[in-house]
Amino acid sequence: MSKPDSNQTTVDKGEIERHSKLTGDWWSRNGVIQALHSLNEIRVPYIANSLVLESDKVKSQQPLANKLILDIGCGGGLLSESLAKLGAIVTGVDASSTLIDLAKEHSNVDPEVAKNKPTYYCASIEEHAHKFANYYDAVVASEIIDHVANVELFLKQCVETLKPGGKIFITTPNKTRLSQFLVIFVAENVLNIIPKGIHTYDKFKSPKEVSALLQKNNCQVNSVHGLFYNPITDNWFWSYFQTLWYALEATKLC
Ligand SMILES: C[S@@+](CC[C@H](N)C(=O)[O-])C[C@H]1O[C@@H](n2cnc3c(N)ncnc32)[C@H](O)[C@@H]1O
Repeated sequence: MSKPDSNQTTVDKGEIERHSKLTGDWWSRNGVIQALHSLNEIRVPYIANSLVLESDKVKSQQPLANKLILDIGCGGGLLSESLAKLGAIVTGVDASSTLIDLAKEHSNVDPEVAKNKPTYYCASIEEHAHKFANYYDAVVASEIIDHVANVELFLKQCVETLKPGGKIFITTPNKTRLSQFLVIFVAENVLNIIPKGIHTYDKFKSPKEVSALLQKNNCQVNSVHGLFYNPITDNWFWSYFQTLWYALEATKLC
């Protein structure tokens, strides 16, 4: 695979700086990252159920054993660790060196994770895709596409890392006036349950836009499900409505 034009990057330096400042809060269950902690309760089974055959689910405590998974934009490793606990061979990649240092350090905390540590790299998706083309069974891009500089290039590079038949999982806020009001104004500025200034409405993408970009990159979109977050109970739910957040799954065609 040829390296993308060096003028083209998926990294928005301001975004990386803003996320790096959250290092101290990352693993705190009650801080501004709490919604990402609780998102694990719904996104981990969502990913696992899609990657594992029904027969293997009952057989094993580690249903994702031998699955090569890229957690792109892994931050401090919240999702990487949960996937590793299910036996997956996880690679976590993030453009923030501070967060990657934190993720490496934290992988020693839980003995279950320490047995099957994710491998972490500080890199952009385009740097990683250059070395790991056609490699992964799955790429997880959870809560990142609204933070990258060039979403078209970002998705192209994610797909590049997938084996044919591999799957990409995306969770992200939808681009609607209601998400602008609730995800940005209310959650960030009124309730303080999401870091202030972390989201930019212009960067939100609708499921239609994301699906079109994936299809352009030889993927078939399998499903789009709405997600809803209740800040009072700190719980995520699947929802018929995709107006606020959504989860999308697609397969790279052979
Ligand atoms: C909101 S956090 C999501 C963390 C994690 N995926 C989760 O949901 O627990 C977004 C992360 O994406 C990283 N990031 C943004 N642009 C990136 C890029 N182009 N390549 C790699 N990482 C990137 C940021 O540094 C940040 O840690």
